[in-house]
Amino acid sequence: MEFVEWTDKYSTGNPLVDAYHHIFFQMVQEFGASLKSDEGAPMADRVAFLVDYTFMHFDSEERMMEKAGYPDLEAHKQVHQHFRDQVKAIHQSYLENPDRMKAEEVLALVQEWFAHHILGEDMRYKPWLETGKA
Ligand SMILES: [Fe+2]
Repeated sequence: MEFVEWTDKYSTGNPLVDAYHHIFFQMVQEFGASLKSDEGAPMADRVAFLVDYTFMHFDSEERMMEKAGYPDLEAHKQVHQHFRDQVKAIHQSYLENPDRMKAEEVLALVQEWFAHHILGEDMRYKPWLETGKA
C-alpha cells in the first residue's frame, strides 16, 4: 500500500503546524514499512500512538487558532471532533478484530483523512497562522 508523501503543497506556512503534520506523515511511512518486519514495538502500540498523536495535534492546533483569533475556530473544532469520533471507532474495530481491520488500513484511513483535511480546512487558517507567531 502506498502512503501519501509529504510535499510543499501541505505547508500551512506555520513552522509548528508543519512540523506536526510532517512528523505525522513520516510516522505513517515508518509504521507502514515496519508492517513488513517483526522488529520494534508491536503494531497495536504503534497504531495507539498514532491515534494519541492525532488527538494531541488537534488540541495544539485548536489552541494556535484560538490564539491567532481565527474566526472559523468553532467550525474547525467540530470537524476535528467528528474525526476524533471516527478515529476512535476505527481504532476500536481494529482492536476488536485485527483480522478484519488491518493495521495498514487504519494507517491509510487516518492519513487519507489527514491529508485531505490539511489541504481543505487547515489551509483556510493560513493567513492567520502563517507568521508562526501564534
Ligand atoms: Fe485541523
